[in-house]
Amino acid sequence: MSADESCCIPSYNQSCCELGSVASTEEAVKKNYGKLWASQREGKSAKSKRLASMLSAHEALFKELKPQKGMSVLDIGSGNGETVLAIAEKVGPTGKAIGVDFSPEGIALAREKAEKRNLGEVAEFHLSNALELPLTNDYFDAVISECVVCLIKDKQKALNEKVRVLKPGGRVIMHDVITWARMPKAMRENQKLFCDCIGGAVSLDEYVEMMKKAGLTNIKTVDFTKGVNKKRMEASIVAKARKLKDKKAFHEIVDFARKGSIGYALLVGTKNRA
Ligand SMILES: C[S@@+](CC[C@H](N)C(=O)[O-])C[C@H]1O[C@@H](n2cnc3c(N)ncnc32)[C@H](O)[C@@H]1O
Repeated sequence: MSADESCCIPSYNQSCCELGSVASTEEAVKKNYGKLWASQREGKSAKSKRLASMLSAHEALFKELKPQKGMSVLDIGSGNGETVLAIAEKVGPTGKAIGVDFSPEGIALAREKAEKRNLGEVAEFHLSNALELPLTNDYFDAVISECVVCLIKDKQKALNEKVRVLKPGGRVIMHDVITWARMPKAMRENQKLFCDCIGGAVSLDEYVEMMKKAGLTNIKTVDFTKGVNKKRMEASIVAKARKLKDKKAFHEIVDFARKGSIGYALLVGTKNRA
């Protein structure tokens, strides 16, 4: 399996999501990424690779964010901390770049990097679930996330939390996996595909609706689906669904994958001042 078949760490996901004994999907996601960040910490695995679409969206997120001295920025699902540290370099010494992640291994790795790069005063990392942020209301200039909301089942709650900690007039800037067709139920329920950032993806319209409901306005979307390698995505989805005993469900998944129904997008919204 090649490194760019999935969201950002597919070669790892292939084995890590063999999580038959894991109680919930959330635990599976935590364990999955925990193993990746632990192996990066030990210097065992290569850097996590991002899809071409994700890389373009990452650059677009930075352009949109325009991090400047004094800004306070929160990154939800900060992973190995690279984005937070890049922001800390721009917003310090007076600003703050804070990362939260529910993987203890990711937080430990990110904190180590912050110390090594002398960014400990500006960059902070908190171990927390995105659904219950241990942070005060109306604080951040921007709340970002990169390929994380697709891994959270209760997306509305995650978006509400982002908006709660955002200053009035502040922005949510996020990029994520999206769908261009109705996803078959068996695909949504497949834990491996969920851990691979695919099974939990929703359409752009659904994201926009949830953002509005969370209190965001001036919503802007940029489509990066062109950067998704359709052939590889299809092969990856089919490989993970192959063990399905229900052949009808399997064929529905193959059909969905063949249509190139997985995309990628950047979404931006502003919190109402009222
Ligand atoms: C695909 S990785 C992306 C990491 C980083 N944002 C990047 O772009 O490299 C997803 C990250 O989100 C974290 N994550 C997933 N669900 C979460 C949740 N409910 N609360 C906090 N972190 C979560 C995982 O632990 C993992 O580090």
